Amino acid sequence: MSQVQELVPILVVDDQASNLLTMEGLLESMGLPLQVVRAEDGNRALRLCLQQPFALILLDVQMPGMNGYEVAELLRSHPKTGTLPIIFVTAGLTNTPHVIRGYESGAVDYLPKPLDRHLLTSKVRVFTELFQQRRQLERHEEHLEAEVKRRSAELRALNAELEHRVEERSQQLKQALLRVVEAEQHAALGRMVAGIAHEMNTPIGNILLASSTLSAELGRMASLLKGERVSRQDLLALGEQGHSAALMIESNAHRAAALVNNFKELGSRSEHETPTRFKIANAIEASLTAMSTQLRAARVRLELEVDADITSLGFPEALHRIITLLVNNSLVHAFQAQLQPPQPCIRLQAEARDQQLLLSYSDNGCGVSPANLPRLFDPFFTTRLGQGGSGLGLSIVRKLAVEQMKGEVRACTPVGGGLRLDFRWPLDLSLEA
Ligand SMILES: Nc1ncnc2c1ncn2[C@@H]1O[C@H](COP(=O)(O)OP(=O)(O)OP(=O)(O)O)[C@@H](O)[C@H]1O
Ligand SMILES: [Mg+2]
Repeated sequence: MSQVQELVPILVVDDQASNLLTMEGLLESMGLPLQVVRAEDGNRALRLCLQQPFALILLDVQMPGMNGYEVAELLRSHPKTGTLPIIFVTAGLTNTPHVIRGYESGAVDYLPKPLDRHLLTSKVRVFTELFQQRRQLERHEEHLEAEVKRRSAELRALNAELEHRVEERSQQLKQALLRVVEAEQHAALGRMVAGIAHEMNTPIGNILLASSTLSAELGRMASLLKGERVSRQDLLALGEQGHSAALMIESNAHRAAALVNNFKELGSRSEHETPTRFKIANAIEASLTAMSTQLRAARVRLELEVDADITSLGFPEALHRIITLLVNNSLVHAFQAQLQPPQPCIRLQAEARDQQLLLSYSDNGCGVSPANLPRLFDPFFTTRLGQGGSGLGLSIVRKLAVEQMKGEVRACTPVGGGLRLDFRWPLDLSLEA
């Protein structure tokens, strides 16, 4: 802040130039930091007061034209000058009514002419100090305001910087997440390819083995035939070996074809299929009837609790496929691995609730270990590796339930044993996007 002392402006108003000079002389001799401004009439005084602030006005009462009282009244009525301290300076008119008029028009004091130097000095000092204090307060306020402005600007800049950093960080996180997802997709693809290669390897290896044995045997027979040393025994042995090799080739080719079909099913898209209207109970019964021979052979008891009236606008073929895969799993995994099995039982429950189909499939077989339960739906997860299991059945089930039927499926092992799969999907698939 500047250390130069600020001058305090005082306005003296008098129509007599000699009076103005006297007052100016008196004020300047007081040793106060004053800036004396002079006005010879009321009009000039009003103009000056509107232009700049004054610590005090020493106002002559008797002036031609506008007298001191009128000047004071006009000053009081204006918001800019309403609180200006006024001291009337008067030679006569000190009787009470005039004094009252003076106070009413806004005077803070009266001073009689000729002016008493001590009296004037003490009064001017008070108003000078008041003015200086007010200015100091104003400067302090200005300083505070500037400080608030500076801090707000700093805060705004900090805020913008912070937002920028948050945005930058979330972009980085998004990118990192994308990379993780990509890596996971790559890994899943790698696992899938490895699984396919492994699964296809077994039947292809068997076919190669059978066909090379067959070709070696046929070659040996050809050379025997050339030497005309072929016995009936040799021919019979060749026939038997040839037959079993052909059977092995055939069954392994079937296995390879079935695998390829499963891969195709897992990779196929079903969006173009249009939903049809069908009864859930009829579709379930038809699927079970199609498997009745295997179910009877395994002496499986069926428990059906399916509401006969539920109609769905959906995909009966997908439901048929799901039930076939689940029954097949019960027959292959659930009922085979038990040492002292109870009578095998498959239970199917279906009910409609809130426009959704709730379907529950369970068997009372060996169930699944807690470690294997979370992996059931993973492609190529099987506990019958090398015994005909490719681990694709339940991934196809999940794909159908989630992607085609727009629903969900969960597996659990109930307290009583066995495995249960709970499905939920919309009854009307035409409403689904
Ligand atoms: N009802 C069940 N009871 C016990 N275990 C089951 C049952 N259903 C499935 N599993 C377990 O889940 C694994 C995965 O089943 P999934 O149908 O996907 O493959 P898979 O039956 O082994 O082979 P695929 O179905 O391709 O011939 C099975 O290997 C088996 O361990
Ligand atoms: Mg299966």
